[in-house]
Amino acid sequence: MGIDFYKKILENNKAWSNTKLAEDPEYFKRLAQGQQPPLLWIGCSDSRVPANEIIGAQPGEVFVHRNIANMVIHSDMNMLSVLDYAVNVLKVRHVIVCGHYGCGGVKAAMGNQSIGIIDNWIRHIKDVYRQNRVYLDSIVSENDRFDSFVEINVKDQVRDLAKTSIVQAAWSSGQELYLHGWVYGLDTGVVKDLEVNLYNNNDLDRVDRLEF
Ligand code: CO
Repeated sequence: MGIDFYKKILENNKAWSNTKLAEDPEYFKRLAQGQQPPLLWIGCSDSRVPANEIIGAQPGEVFVHRNIANMVIHSDMNMLSVLDYAVNVLKVRHVIVCGHYGCGGVKAAMGNQSIGIIDNWIRHIKDVYRQNRVYLDSIVSENDRFDSFVEINVKDQVRDLAKTSIVQAAWSSGQELYLHGWVYGLDTGVVKDLEVNLYNNNDLDRVDRLEF
């Protein structure tokens, strides 16, 4: 995985671009003209969950934001900027929060080991645990509790997306925007749709609803 790997990935790129051009000489020229992806993907940084690949999406079809444990943090300017651009400029129709079983960030949030600066990011996941502690603590099997925590975390991030001013403003203006929560199985390659499909602010607590 040293210099040879580095050289290899550059060669891979040459081969890939040549293959695309052989299929369609205008492929990159057309892509360079602009993008209109129907989907924003908010996923985990984990190298085993490549957004485009697992949903068979081509370049131009999915706008992507990834961070550790696919979190939607209200003050994260990176996430908010991606969301704002996706919703208000690209006009995506769907936003998917995709977590995955075996997520290291979620696992870390169940434990107490300090890892480094990431401890402070994982605090947000610990908040999710605390809010669901009675249920999660009642699950005897640690693996089952881990899987359940991964799912609960995704649902929570979808609800947090719905609370953002960006999503609420879009809904308020009548823009069609659907939020979904998925969990990907590293060991199966299959996505589970958690069926938290939000498309208006009716499900939000009164205190979370914004008026425009
Ligand atoms: Co992960």
